[in-house]
Amino acid sequence: MTSKSYMSPSQTPDSRSRIEDLPTWQPSTRLIHGGTLRSEFCETGEAVFLNSGYVYATAEEAEAAFDGTTERYVYSRFRNPTVQMFEDRLALLEGAPACRATASGMAAVFAALACQLEAGDRVVASRALFGSCAHIVTQILPRYGVTATIVEGTDLDAWTAALATPAKVVFLETPSNPGLEVIDLPAVCALAHAAGARVVVDNVFATPILQSPLTLGADVVVYSATKHIDGQGRCLGGAVLGDRAFIEDELGLFLRHTGPSLSPFNAWVLLKGLETLELRVERHCATALAVARYLEGRGDVPTVRYPGLESHPQHALAARQMKAGGPIVAFDVGSKERAFGLMNALRLVTISNNLGDAKSLICHPATTTHQKLSPEEKTAQGITPGFLRLSVGLEAAEDLVADLGRALDSMA
Ligand SMILES: Cc1ncc(COP(=O)(O)O)c(C=O)c1O
Repeated sequence: MTSKSYMSPSQTPDSRSRIEDLPTWQPSTRLIHGGTLRSEFCETGEAVFLNSGYVYATAEEAEAAFDGTTERYVYSRFRNPTVQMFEDRLALLEGAPACRATASGMAAVFAALACQLEAGDRVVASRALFGSCAHIVTQILPRYGVTATIVEGTDLDAWTAALATPAKVVFLETPSNPGLEVIDLPAVCALAHAAGARVVVDNVFATPILQSPLTLGADVVVYSATKHIDGQGRCLGGAVLGDRAFIEDELGLFLRHTGPSLSPFNAWVLLKGLETLELRVERHCATALAVARYLEGRGDVPTVRYPGLESHPQHALAARQMKAGGPIVAFDVGSKERAFGLMNALRLVTISNNLGDAKSLICHPATTTHQKLSPEEKTAQGITPGFLRLSVGLEAAEDLVADLGRALDSMA
């Protein structure tokens, strides 16, 4: 018995015909429709192409695919239609000419740096980096003969001094994890370009909704898609965006031969995440601002850090380069004992080193994500014993405020 084909000859995939509408589409529309590659089965939702290889009708076709005469899918370590849909949709949102996805955010950071560096090159990076990003810059790259100069990200004089000598790459995070330092992107990019460096920005805390580093002068943007792009704590993923020559030639070649590919299934989860990203980030930010104002207003929380608060040291800069203050709030309750006491007393907010989930998550960076930093490094990054990072979720603001308030009151 043969199975019936349900493909109607009159139904042709229409995704390509709609690409001409793209320039007029607003970001919210791009997030829903951008990059769709509809198959001959005319599915509504994006298909999951969970395959490693592809077939050729003839040996000549295979030869042509490998010698570059034809462009097509040859192996999912190189390209895959579901992964490509995610890449194209994110590129449209970011306003980037090209994007490549990776298996995790760290794979994206490492590939974005390693693909363009060689022995003898110099990287200038901001001090306030996520622990693994700092490890790559200060521990792994030097093993391959790449030197690193670390600067205080908020100090333009320090950038000026460090970039008075040539550099190959400038790498920074803004806002930083976990201290929420905001770096002046246009100023640092101008200094970097004068020194001959490409600027790579880790935009995880801002998300592509709040900040567009490429329009502020950066050359390359990296994401941990694990965070707000997925947004529901389901899978790992990463992405690198930039101009076509960099992404396809330098990065593409590096990825093809080193293999940190994103699983097509995870790409599908992330595609679904993109559809609701704008709505979620708007809500995360509104709730984060309400929580930050509440904590600041209590009077018993010594330090509250949130780029959307007037008290944030770079509040004016954040208002210039970000659309809102972001989904993360940081605060200091004075000691490790009080920090642990607060975390253990919370009933709604849960303890996790992850961030960017629909669920609010709290973390004590000094003993988890940034535990490996030396005491001096922790102090330099403001990671004091009482410092906490709160990834604000999608719960009702009043419930989060009540939970935090009750936990803080219980320690009075
Ligand atoms: C700023 C930043 N960059 C990169 C990463 C790494 O992402 P992933 O965990 O997806 O490898 C993280 C993870 O927490 C992060 O916060």
